[in-house]
Amino acid sequence: MSEEQLQRDFQSKLDAEIRIEPKDWMPDDYRKTLIRQISQHAHSEIVGMLPEGNWITRAPSLRRKVALIAKVQDEAGHGLYLYSAMETLGEPRSKAIDDLHSGKAKYSSIFNYPTLTWADMGAIGWLVDGAAIQNQVPLCRTSYGPYARAMVRVCKEESFHQRQGYEIMMELAKGTPAQKAMAQDALNRWWWPSLMMFGPPDKDSKHTAQSMAWKIKRHTNDELRQAFVDKTVPQGEFIGLTFPDKDLKWNEEKGHYDFGDINWDEFYNVIKGNGPCNKERIKARRAAKENGAWVRDAAAAYAKKKQNKSTEKAA
Ligand code: 3HC
Repeated sequence: MSEEQLQRDFQSKLDAEIRIEPKDWMPDDYRKTLIRQISQHAHSEIVGMLPEGNWITRAPSLRRKVALIAKVQDEAGHGLYLYSAMETLGEPRSKAIDDLHSGKAKYSSIFNYPTLTWADMGAIGWLVDGAAIQNQVPLCRTSYGPYARAMVRVCKEESFHQRQGYEIMMELAKGTPAQKAMAQDALNRWWWPSLMMFGPPDKDSKHTAQSMAWKIKRHTNDELRQAFVDKTVPQGEFIGLTFPDKDLKWNEEKGHYDFGDINWDEFYNVIKGNGPCNKERIKARRAAKENGAWVRDAAAAYAKKKQNKSTEKAA
């Protein structure tokens, strides 16, 4: 079949909302975009465990500790689903992880900020997982089958993550003045970096137009950011917190909140590797790989021994 016919079949599948599966023909650039996005999504899940892992031993109660451990374990699972989805495109996990450790591959900017108080666990669950849900629910309808299916499972767990975070913020906001101040401080520090999670403005996004055409993305960065602001501001106001944005105001005519300018210099600086915690995060991931080498070697040796046994039996 000619390349033109293959391209036509691919496009007619997209038009008919038929999922593209691993064995289907796909344009090289479609495959490359998916490997880029899914691998960076997976890296974000794995690196995202670090800021929260930092507070597991300091959770203020057994209930909070159980919820945080469960959440961090979920994120590890999300990363593994996504690395598996990426591998169906022919990209080995080891290469993607090397690209992360070398700085070649990105992960979400949000995880380069420090978690300074317990309230940050609330702000991360409420805002970061809230933003992730906003972005990931449409990805359940992304055109690539394995990615869409991974997202269905991820989204079910994300809603627990967001609720437990919001509950932490709610408890603190109705607690002592010091607790309320801690929640407000966390909102002040995490609000703007959460808006940056959705990516640069559509006018500056180099991938959005093509990703929308391929139905990898179902909404643009700005559309998802706006939906997140509209959903989150009433939640913050309900628990008596104020947002660190003097321009944040409901626009009756538009039916959306207007909000202030995002500091894109900060965003690009962080994704270039100059955020507060970039070096620490990659150092931790490199150490995890080195410290885990013996586990991988033992598993490989065991698998080889088992393989040899079954070949001897067969002979
Ligand atoms: N952090 C780091 N890099 C970012 C970024 C962010 N918040 N937003 C955009 N970028 C990068 C892009 O990767 C791209 O760089 P590249 O070409 O080197 O990959 C560049 O900035 C231009 O951005 P675009 O908007 O043109 O790129 P995309 O079309 O890929 O859109 C995205 C960016 C919206 C993040 C998209 O990749 C996406 O939807 N990814 C899947 C979801 C995801 O990765 N979420 C990350 C958070 S996961 C999480 O929070 C886990 C939760 O459990 C806590």
